[in-house]
Amino acid sequence: MTAPADLSVVEDAEAQARFEDLIAQDSRIEPRDWMPDAYRKTLIRQISQHAHSEIIGMQPESNWISRAPSLKRKAILMAKVQDEAGHGLYLYSAAQTLGISREEMTQQLIEGKAKYSSIFNYTTPTWADMGAIGWLVDGAAICNQVPLCRASYGPYGRAMIRICKEESFHQRQGFEILLELMQGTEAQRRMAQEAVDRWYWPALMMFGPPDDQSPNSAQSMAWNIKRFSNDELRQRFVGMLVPQAEVMGVTLPDPNLKWNEAEQRYDMSEIDWTEFHEVLAGRGPANAERLRRRREAHEEGAWVREAAAEYARKQALKQKAVA
Ligand code: 3HC
Repeated sequence: MTAPADLSVVEDAEAQARFEDLIAQDSRIEPRDWMPDAYRKTLIRQISQHAHSEIIGMQPESNWISRAPSLKRKAILMAKVQDEAGHGLYLYSAAQTLGISREEMTQQLIEGKAKYSSIFNYTTPTWADMGAIGWLVDGAAICNQVPLCRASYGPYGRAMIRICKEESFHQRQGFEILLELMQGTEAQRRMAQEAVDRWYWPALMMFGPPDDQSPNSAQSMAWNIKRFSNDELRQRFVGMLVPQAEVMGVTLPDPNLKWNEAEQRYDMSEIDWTEFHEVLAGRGPANAERLRRRREAHEEGAWVREAAAEYARKQALKQKAVA
């Protein structure tokens, strides 16, 4: 007779084989499927960081809602910031299917223990920054996130499909803001160019460290979570930007940016990785302000959470009484 302990070893081996088979077939893993602990942890790490980025990412732009130059621009910017909140919610929901609670993720963020994208730790001193964020930051997000629509974890991939559709609208509105400024007065053109100068390098850093310094890439690619490496996506992004910059008449602030026909890629200057690591360590231009504001919003929203919980409790009591 087989001992129960041996049975569980056989079951684990079968579950592992099923998981590997699904990955090999490029199929989806769903929440109820068995998955290795490391796969679950990697997904929680990436999806929660992504969700936090969307939520913190609302701040640099909401700063401009009341100062947008027209009612139309105000309405567009408000819709965009609301979209980011929605993206955060889809992503928190996807992470929750992996067994972590929304409260735990929020706590990690407000205690400064969780990462979110480096890009949202830069300031937005002029209206043109709204254009540069849309064009460069949302552009980089699309480039990075379209392949994630095929991520092996079902709830993540499906959330990404909807998010990417909305990011395309965000990117176009940013392009259009800059295009209009570039067709305006000398001062407006200068403001647009200065914003592009401010955001270009931080946008390239969004793709993460170079491939030879990216500890998570190889395993994430083997599990079909990431489909391309950080450097591959960065190259693809620069290739998208060059013709668009020409249409707008802005200059990408890299004197060494040049198409390399032999290598079929762009040569570019070395990215300042010291700046990237400083921002990740919490010493970027706006890290402290972003976290302070997030904490404040969390505290100010306590009454909403309490009211919702109380309503849910009363509804449950009512249903119990009827049953
Ligand atoms: N900002 C902050 N941290 C970063 C980072 C960045 N730009 N790039 C990399 N890192 C962190 C990683 O999270 C990892 O830290 P950890 O091991 O402590 O979790 C470390 O640096 C090493 O990087 P790796 O390349 O090994 O990490 P990954 O394989 O996870 O790749 C990534 C990093 C490309 C950002 C990947 O996680 C990813 O594609 N994430 C999903 C997309 C995402 O989160 N985008 C954030 C922007 S959201 C956004 O843009 C909103 C839109 O509305 C504008």
